[in-house]
Amino acid sequence: MTPVLETRGLCMSFGAQKLAALSDVSIALHEGRCLALVGESGSGKSTCAKLLTRMLRPTEGTIHFGGEDVTVLRGRSDLRTYRSHVQMVFQDPFAALNPAHSVQHHLERPLALHKPNLSRAERTEAASALLRQVELDPATTLRKFPHELSGGQRQRVNLARALAVDPAVIIADEPTSMLDMSIRLSVLDMFAPLKRERRIAMLYITHDIATARYVAEETAVLYGGRIVEMGPTDRLIDDPRHPYTKLLLEAVPEIGRPFGSTRLSVEADRVRAISRGAGDLREVAPGHFVREIATN
Ligand SMILES: Nc1ncnc2c1ncn2[C@@H]1O[C@H](COP(=O)(O)OP(=O)(O)OP(=O)(O)O)[C@@H](O)[C@H]1O
Ligand SMILES: [Mg+2]
Repeated sequence: MTPVLETRGLCMSFGAQKLAALSDVSIALHEGRCLALVGESGSGKSTCAKLLTRMLRPTEGTIHFGGEDVTVLRGRSDLRTYRSHVQMVFQDPFAALNPAHSVQHHLERPLALHKPNLSRAERTEAASALLRQVELDPATTLRKFPHELSGGQRQRVNLARALAVDPAVIIADEPTSMLDMSIRLSVLDMFAPLKRERRIAMLYITHDIATARYVAEETAVLYGGRIVEMGPTDRLIDDPRHPYTKLLLEAVPEIGRPFGSTRLSVEADRVRAISRGAGDLREVAPGHFVREIATN
């Protein structure tokens, strides 16, 4: 099956010193499926998202969307069209919404651009349908402003807004990490019907590998800008092969404080040190890739 969105050998370096934030990343997103991109802070997850949405241009490698090379898309209107197909949901649900505008405005604006033939009434009905899809009640939610919503509700509105333009791809960058633990899973639970019914290809970015199981058929573990292990999520979680993946599984990290205890942190430093190299990605089982560790 041809991937909806595919990267080959993606590299990104920043600044005069050309610090590599991402090296040789090859991933594929498929219709109706979700890939989890997992890694601790600074591993390059958001850089990858920005390349995929072409907010940044890669220093090396290619990005193909629907078979078309979008690596060096330039024109404003080409980029705008591309980004309507590849929508982004951000970590901070509040920052992404304009405090001066109602939920209705947030949803009807993209609808007006994407489906200009809708009448006003049809547009409001479409906005209501989007809210129902993310399990919010349109009767009470349409008129509300961002500050009148809970964090979880705001993130649902962000998702509804992303859906308004019928995207082929949704990239969700830590969509639940700023939400209460108690509601995270209910927000992640909304991904399944989007894959099933809308056939959307998804990239779920998280520092918490344990949540990948809920949403993603496949998982790629990123460390120091490189994929160290990639494959079916169940396999990675039940039978991790790379020491860094094992480390992530042992210590499901808190934001900003990846590995809490000192016992773990000594071991964690050792694992990090050996996980930095550019060994080959080797296929250890069908679709399960592990980066080899350089021995000297
Ligand atoms: N615009 C930029 N200029 C210079 N360096 C950058 C820039 N954006 C990211 N970086 C660097 O690239 C690396 C990866 O950053 P990135 O934001 O992709 O990490 P992340 O995995 O999303 O981390 P977090 O979990 O904290 O969001 C970091 O070392 C970061 O400092
Ligand atoms: Mg990030």
